[in-house]
Amino acid sequence: MTTDRLMALDLLVSVLAAAAWAGAGAAAAARRPRTAAALMAGAMVASLARAGSVLALAGAGWWFVQEKVTVALPLLLTASVVAAVTAGPRLLAASRATSAAGRDAVGSPAVVVPLLGAGYAAAAGPVQTFLLGYPAEPGSALILLAVVAGAVLVTWRAMAPRVPLLRAATAATVAAALAGGVLTFLPATTAGATTPGAALGAATPEAATAGAATPEAATAGAATPGGGVLGDGAPAAAAPAADAPAEGGHDMPGHAASAQTSAQMSAPGRPVTDFRGPSEPAPGGTVRRFTLTARTATVTLSSGRKVAAWTFDGQVPGPPITATQGDLVEVRLRNADITEGVTLHWHGYDVPSGEDGVPGLTQEAVRPGGEFVYRFLAAQTGTYWYHTHEVSDIGVRMGLYGMFVVAPRGSATTGVDLTLPVHTFAGTTVAGDHDQPILQGVAPGTPVRLRLVDTDNTPHRFTLAGTVYRLVAVDGTDLSGPGPLSRAGLRLPAGGRYDLAFTMPSGPVVLRADDRTEVVRLTATANGTGHVSGTDAPGPQHTDRSDQSGNATDVTDAGDAAAAAGWPELDLTRYGTPAPTPYTSRSRFDRRFTLVLDRGLALGDGLPIYAHTINGRAYPHVPTQVVREGDLVRLTVVNRGRDTHPWHLHGHRVLVLARDGRAPTGSPLWLDTFDVRPGEVWEVAFRAGNPGLWMNHCHNLSHADLGMMLHLAYEGVTTPFHGGHGG
Ligand code: C2O
Ligand code: CU
Repeated sequence: MTTDRLMALDLLVSVLAAAAWAGAGAAAAARRPRTAAALMAGAMVASLARAGSVLALAGAGWWFVQEKVTVALPLLLTASVVAAVTAGPRLLAASRATSAAGRDAVGSPAVVVPLLGAGYAAAAGPVQTFLLGYPAEPGSALILLAVVAGAVLVTWRAMAPRVPLLRAATAATVAAALAGGVLTFLPATTAGATTPGAALGAATPEAATAGAATPEAATAGAATPGGGVLGDGAPAAAAPAADAPAEGGHDMPGHAASAQTSAQMSAPGRPVTDFRGPSEPAPGGTVRRFTLTARTATVTLSSGRKVAAWTFDGQVPGPPITATQGDLVEVRLRNADITEGVTLHWHGYDVPSGEDGVPGLTQEAVRPGGEFVYRFLAAQTGTYWYHTHEVSDIGVRMGLYGMFVVAPRGSATTGVDLTLPVHTFAGTTVAGDHDQPILQGVAPGTPVRLRLVDTDNTPHRFTLAGTVYRLVAVDGTDLSGPGPLSRAGLRLPAGGRYDLAFTMPSGPVVLRADDRTEVVRLTATANGTGHVSGTDAPGPQHTDRSDQSGNATDVTDAGDAAAAAGWPELDLTRYGTPAPTPYTSRSRFDRRFTLVLDRGLALGDGLPIYAHTINGRAYPHVPTQVVREGDLVRLTVVNRGRDTHPWHLHGHRVLVLARDGRAPTGSPLWLDTFDVRPGEVWEVAFRAGNPGLWMNHCHNLSHADLGMMLHLAYEGVTTPFHGGHGG
């Protein structure tokens, strides 16, 4: 069974156990001994089953059961035993009783209270999973226990005129609740003062070093002055909170709250604003200048439908930015009237940190009337996109994004090359500015490249019918040995890109999104020029001469949308052929970080929110991951929630080491956005070769907005900005 299913099963069993125990208590109170006995038997079975489901789930990793094993299960089992021992015999006697009085004895507090108490204890499990999530900490566990104990006392008192030791029990319960509250909230507020959001926002730049943001990390760094390869234990010391699962320990909120040492205070810092692009292109390259003006506008989609949008230059998507490898890209961003402010982030492009467009971290957001000039070398080739990073959840949704494509130097310029940013406007799937299929005539034999970008918050499933094709690049990086594909569903994560290549066959080719929306329909025409319907300027032409697909015997029917809906999803980790990589899962890692993604109550930017949490915290209270230039970093991302989290690290491409413990068997996967689905565990690695301050976040931007972000900071890099935002 998949971890996702096990999580659902465990939840179901825990709810059943709670309902059965509470039901038994209610039936007893209603003086229905037989019903109560039957429900109690069911409750005991469900409680045992819960132990089994937790055990099974533990096989997927400690992260998935930590709060269950340490709190929920002991509580459930203890309460179940107490109820069985105290209420059980009386309940059985009552259900066998022949006299009415004997049957009515079942309604006594000695029966009802233990049964209802077991119900409260059982209910604490799902409540803890929903409200608190990972990890269970002593403070929240105490509060939970106090709530259960309080409910038992209230029930008992309501049923009986005298409760033995009521005062002492009440006092103990209140004390537990208070202690829990202190443990939970005091560290959270003090930690706030040293976590990046606050520390980077400190008025004095010296105090704002990234090292200061996470004192342990800087200390660990100081303890290993050689900066050499750290043992497995040392990286955990570098980020104890973030890496707690690897140690099987708890994420103690207090860890982040320790005081800054003088060494960190005096560490020479280099401001992130020093990390800027060059002023000259590479030899042979040219300077590509663009100006983008952000403004609100009413945009007319291809059908004539009008939508209110936030735009670059009045259009959605914004003007395509294209370059050839080695060019210098210079983009002047202006803001006409986006009152929230705007920046440009080059998604997937490893620009210098000062060009990364993260408001409050690498620059201030550009306010109306302001401007900012981005300059960087077009070193990577492939398909990327740009978008605002200020209030990005709303900004990107409203249209502040565009395509960024870099062609290899000296590539041929024949063929058809379509960039297709897929976005949802008011419930309609739009490709470019098309809310209807893009129709284009293409001469058979023409090389075609389709660049798919998911600019939404959730994944899209694409199918390409009518031809055999190859998925030649993912997130801008060419795959190794991509084989011919047909009858496949391609699930593209939010923020991700797929490049599809094929040779135009003699019949029509149809690209669909989510099995219902026709995105592109190519029809075979006699002459090669064809007709492009639409305003979306094609990206740089790119010919994939190696593509010999179009094998007529395996061509799918372009017209059959229903069939396409049934095509199985391509498993990227098994596609293509292996190739050497600069590091593998057996490499020696200088740092290891684990991010456990969940939902729960957490302190957000000032107020407690029902957050999308990372190791139980929400931005800006998630401890910064601190690395040194040159470090080989291993990042484990665990999803124990019910939402998909497209994980995105700025400034670095990551190499996938494993998903759910299995290494890719196909092409190496270099990604900037990977979908961590419920129950999945991803292990990725990257070389810290791009010094600066970087966002590391979920690219479901509404999740990011609800706390699912943190910073990755290179030791010694500081920010002169307030540091509290990030998009
Ligand atoms: Cu595409 Cu931080 O984002
Ligand atoms: Cu998410």
